[in-house]
Amino acid sequence: MAEYRYPEGSVLYRNLHKSFPLIESGRGCDLYDINGKKYLDGSGGAAVVNIGHGVKEIAAALSRQAGKAAYLSGVQFTHEPVEKLAAAVASFLPFRNGKVFFLTSGSEAMEASIKLARQYWVERGKPEKYRVISLRPSYHGNTLAALSLSARQHYQETFRPLLLKSARIPAPYCYRCPWDLAPSDCGVECAHELEKAIERIGRERVSAFIGEVIGGSSTGASVPPKDYWRTIRRICDRNKVLLIADEVMTGAGRTGKWLACGHYDLVPDMVVMGKGLTSGYFPLSAVAAKAALLEPIFERGKNFLHAQTFTHHPVGCAAGLATIEYLKDHDLIARCARVGKSLKPKLEGLLNHPHVGDVRGEGLLIGVEFVKNKRKKTPFPREKRYVEAFVAEAFDRGLVLWPNIGQADGTNGDLVMVAPPFIIQEDEISEMLERIESTLAAMERKFG
Ligand SMILES: Cc1ncc(COP(=O)(O)O)c(C=O)c1O
Repeated sequence: MAEYRYPEGSVLYRNLHKSFPLIESGRGCDLYDINGKKYLDGSGGAAVVNIGHGVKEIAAALSRQAGKAAYLSGVQFTHEPVEKLAAAVASFLPFRNGKVFFLTSGSEAMEASIKLARQYWVERGKPEKYRVISLRPSYHGNTLAALSLSARQHYQETFRPLLLKSARIPAPYCYRCPWDLAPSDCGVECAHELEKAIERIGRERVSAFIGEVIGGSSTGASVPPKDYWRTIRRICDRNKVLLIADEVMTGAGRTGKWLACGHYDLVPDMVVMGKGLTSGYFPLSAVAAKAALLEPIFERGKNFLHAQTFTHHPVGCAAGLATIEYLKDHDLIARCARVGKSLKPKLEGLLNHPHVGDVRGEGLLIGVEFVKNKRKKTPFPREKRYVEAFVAEAFDRGLVLWPNIGQADGTNGDLVMVAPPFIIQEDEISEMLERIESTLAAMERKFG
């Protein structure tokens, strides 16, 4: 086959309009294609590969478990990997005695979390409580309910008639604060919007509020002001609304703490994780809930009404456990915080460039937002496909970054996520910065 692209071969590719390099192997932050080209993985794929590529210990853990018992149904058996992984996850949750349910993707886990919230209220005798409030912009996944919760116009448009009714409040996206306030003394207006939304819907109908604790790609790693989550927690408590923390991107250390909740002393009712939980060595996600949420279900002789063939997967859980052990053994979360602290100011150096409007983030989750006019924060018009051109230029230079669009107003807005593996070395950081700078120079030639 000359090229890996549609309509050659039998793969329904994620993009039908480009060629894909065929990767043969990966090591650390590098990926190698069959032609010998090396790519520096500056975003760990989709902010997934926290510990780096090609880690033999994780491969061995997967293989050991596959050789023992690759699949066991979660309704028939339990096994050591799930018992140990649940205990390991519970040890870094912000609440004691958490109960952890494992699935295979962030989207599924988000859906499971809103189902658990709903079931909790039904068993508590409040069946009218089902509405979920989320943020705009936000991203919680691509299955229909998770997509309904997300505020990503370009993903939703085609499927609008299939989506659930949703309610949203402005995200803590300080670079584009709708009130034009500074985070230092804004009084977290955006958090107070939750109270208003609950009033509008009626507190007796609202089941849960969900939000990314530190923004993922939809806000380009926007970091909420210090008081944001405390205010949200109070509003949820006052109105008997459950608080679900989407830590699919931020969990397992990406922001320099096990969970982004740790930056805010936030104690949500549920934490949803995915991506970095196995560093991508197996698709695994998790919903971790306060034990109190299971009590009314248990007391009424019921079970959590969520059945999927691959829940609590033994190989997935073995991969998760090995990843957590690897993070601990190599002290990689502290490393992530440390490297993030030195990388962010270096990326802030890019603010001298006419297209770079903002650089923000925490740990090794950093967003770089591009604008046409820096003073007015005007985005490039969508039809220019700025960020698509940016990541293609970077890719040609052997640098992988993760793009996002639409954050400025639902349609326009371009940003990239810089989220390398936690093991990234100084020389690789320099290489990454050089490639970003040369990509920006090429973009200036193209876009003026
Ligand atoms: C914050 C957040 N939540 C949920 C999801 C959905 O996860 P998945 O793509 O594994 O279904 C993502 C994926 O990017 C995410 O970033």
